[in-house]
Amino acid sequence: MQPEANLDINKVLEAYNPEIFRKQGYQIVDILADYLNQAISKNIKQSLPYSTPEKMLKKWPDNFSTEPTGNLADLTKRALSQSNHLHHPHYLGHQIAPSLPAAILCDMTSSLLNNSTAVFEMGPVSTVIEKSLINWMAKLVGFGTDSDGFLTSGGTLGNITALLAARQIKTGVDVWKKGVKEAPPLAVFVSEQAHYSIKRAGQIMGLGEEGVVLVPVDENYSMDISALERKFQETINTRKKPFAIIASACTTATGSYDPLDRIADFCEKHNLWLHIDGAHGASALISSKYRDLLKGVERADSISWDAHKMLLMPAPITALIFRDGNNSYEAFSQKASYLFEKGAQSEWYNLALRTVECTKTMMGLKLYTSLSVYGTDFFSTYVTAMHDLTRQFGEMIENSSDFQLAMKPQSNIICFRYIYEGAKDLNLLQRQIRKSILKNKSYYIVQTKLKDDIYLRCTVVNPFTTQEDLKDLLDIIRNTAKIKLNNRTYAK
Ligand SMILES: Cc1ncc(COP(=O)(O)O)c(C=O)c1O
Repeated sequence: MQPEANLDINKVLEAYNPEIFRKQGYQIVDILADYLNQAISKNIKQSLPYSTPEKMLKKWPDNFSTEPTGNLADLTKRALSQSNHLHHPHYLGHQIAPSLPAAILCDMTSSLLNNSTAVFEMGPVSTVIEKSLINWMAKLVGFGTDSDGFLTSGGTLGNITALLAARQIKTGVDVWKKGVKEAPPLAVFVSEQAHYSIKRAGQIMGLGEEGVVLVPVDENYSMDISALERKFQETINTRKKPFAIIASACTTATGSYDPLDRIADFCEKHNLWLHIDGAHGASALISSKYRDLLKGVERADSISWDAHKMLLMPAPITALIFRDGNNSYEAFSQKASYLFEKGAQSEWYNLALRTVECTKTMMGLKLYTSLSVYGTDFFSTYVTAMHDLTRQFGEMIENSSDFQLAMKPQSNIICFRYIYEGAKDLNLLQRQIRKSILKNKSYYIVQTKLKDDIYLRCTVVNPFTTQEDLKDLLDIIRNTAKIKLNNRTYAK
């Protein structure tokens, strides 16, 4: 029988032609380098090219032709021009890093090799690189040589994997094998300011909304320990079995660090697992000036740490590290005999035993290479500088009578609002200021709701952002507010 499709070997050879690849590669790298230059030197007008989802969808329709029509360089240029420009010094938006050039190029190598990191024989280099990176990060946390872990595709996956392991270990019930029906109603505690991935993890795990107990925060948006004690007692009274506390280091909205030492004391007293969500803030550990923000971190049972936030890596690359490495095998005790031959612990090199993912990118290569190529001092200086600059920004705001800080910034995240007595609705005013800036100006800032108030929010993550940029941003906000206030809708 004839096969339905005859693979045209000439077409295949052309698609994989190394010389065409070389030519296209040089061309694309030229385009990317020019783009980088334009972004860094603010020659791109806006760090966020404002558009709507509908308009964008029209620009990227699903009308693929059966024959080749696209042009790689043109499509690359289109993607570049319509995307957010994280290397632009006025990018102060979400917590995602302007990627480092060596790391960008490593992603090209990873994509070419496509060695999945599920089992050692599928990805020998990426597997051992992961082990070395985890060892390096674990030392920074202050964990001992018994610690172990792996890389995973984002803080969200890191958090749920940690909680799955915690449940196996702390509840005394093999929920993995027997299902949730065998366990008593379970509960975990987290600050009400924690990232939504924690709540989602709990609910995916069948804890229900009530099983993820939200603990009120203090005036700095850090977990309030007396509220934790109260919530803990209330939870026990409803016959739920608590098994973990998730401490934020730091929170997403305000960059607040929970009091890790005090939470660790609480966990020890009540035999609870302590997971630290360090997706954003664990990178402060590499700064000798700021590592004390995480005082007590070495007492955690597990910690997640995103390198695509404050270690300048392209996403995703998250480390999940366990103080006792044996516990890193507890989340999934499932056996796939075609993949795994021996007992879990003796197969440290078969990383899919411990990760949600089966196929996983060679994500470690970019961080391993960048740490070597730039040296670790480069990263510690960067983290220190971003924290310093955010504090200077905080002082600027404190010294301006028309602005109000939500709290003194602890990390490189800062929340503030424009205030004016004559304004009818300050929340609406902040929203409109932000929208107007996104539409008409070069800055990208976000907003957040704290209690009932809307605040403007910046993450100072770009090493090219200067004090002058931040001063300029305040002036722009001020002027935008004045224009809005001249309009009757906003004035009292
Ligand atoms: C504190 C915190 N935890 C978890 C996450 C989720 O991480 P990811 O986006 O890598 O899944 C975020 C993302 O912003 C975060 O800020």
